[in-house]
Amino acid sequence: MAPGALIDVAYDDDNNNNNNNNNNNNDKNINNINNGTILEHVSDAIDDVNSIKYDTKSKFDATKDKATFRQYEDACDRVRGFYREQHEKQTVAYNLAARGRFYSASRPRPRMTIWQAMEKLDALVDESDPDTSLSQIEHLLQSAEAIRRDGKPRWMQVTGLIHDLGKLMLFFPELGTQGQWDVVGDTFPVGCAFDERIIYPETFAANPDAQHPVYSTPHGIYAPGCGLDNVMLSWGHDEYLYHVVKDQSRLPPEALAMIRYHSFYPWHREGAYRDLMCDRDWDMLRAVQAFNPYDLYSKSDEVPRVEELKPYYLELIDEFFPQGELEW
Ligand SMILES: [Fe+2]
Ligand SMILES: [Fe+2]
Repeated sequence: MAPGALIDVAYDDDNNNNNNNNNNNNDKNINNINNGTILEHVSDAIDDVNSIKYDTKSKFDATKDKATFRQYEDACDRVRGFYREQHEKQTVAYNLAARGRFYSASRPRPRMTIWQAMEKLDALVDESDPDTSLSQIEHLLQSAEAIRRDGKPRWMQVTGLIHDLGKLMLFFPELGTQGQWDVVGDTFPVGCAFDERIIYPETFAANPDAQHPVYSTPHGIYAPGCGLDNVMLSWGHDEYLYHVVKDQSRLPPEALAMIRYHSFYPWHREGAYRDLMCDRDWDMLRAVQAFNPYDLYSKSDEVPRVEELKPYYLELIDEFFPQGELEW
């Protein structure tokens, strides 16, 4: 089945909703796998849009390259419904509630090593579809391997290895994840005006915050120059993983920025939200821009041999996560 078809199913029938009251474990597993499959297709379609739009080699120019533009439009068609829903629902209220659930003292936090998390994410995504480009574990290893091949530091290699593990959030019911829209997709700040450079900016008209007396103003609840550490970015796999690893790893600030901002395309690719940055954020921006090609363009590389690479990466994981298990 083509990715577009699956996304249509997801949005027409509300199949993407992760909230179910099913107490049967088998049904839960099937639902997890269904959700994982939809997640993979939505995530791939989102990556298609960004990889065509930001392909540095072809220097995408809508007015010149008609064939590429056609490809780009097709890719956009596949994600339009997804972004319409996301842009309507990512509000300040939703984001505060999501963080409240994450930090709730009563939330049972699953305990897993990084490698176990990689295997869990992989297992929850159905690989039976021949159209599916790469499994999750392969995408993570490809990103890490491309970074390693280029002689980049070990902390950046491990960042490539883990950067999408936040997608596991979809399978932890206590986080109250609603569907695909609060897991994947480009991210943006909430609490201030939605920038025109976010994909499908017109779809924010349906977001109640777009009419809010404070949240709809250029700086909203933020002071100019406050620094992105103080800005609430739309809740999803980037933000979730950042909150998991920031206090449970030996990763440097640049690595944490790569994790937190890797889907923040309006910022790292479109130049938006400069007003909110502090001096330090400019270094973080350079780090995220250096990371981005390894996320977007390593997918065409050779499929990695998981078992062969495992010993190298287990050692790397130990270096930056010496405690072993993390609380997720
Ligand atoms: Fe990602
Ligand atoms: Fe990725």
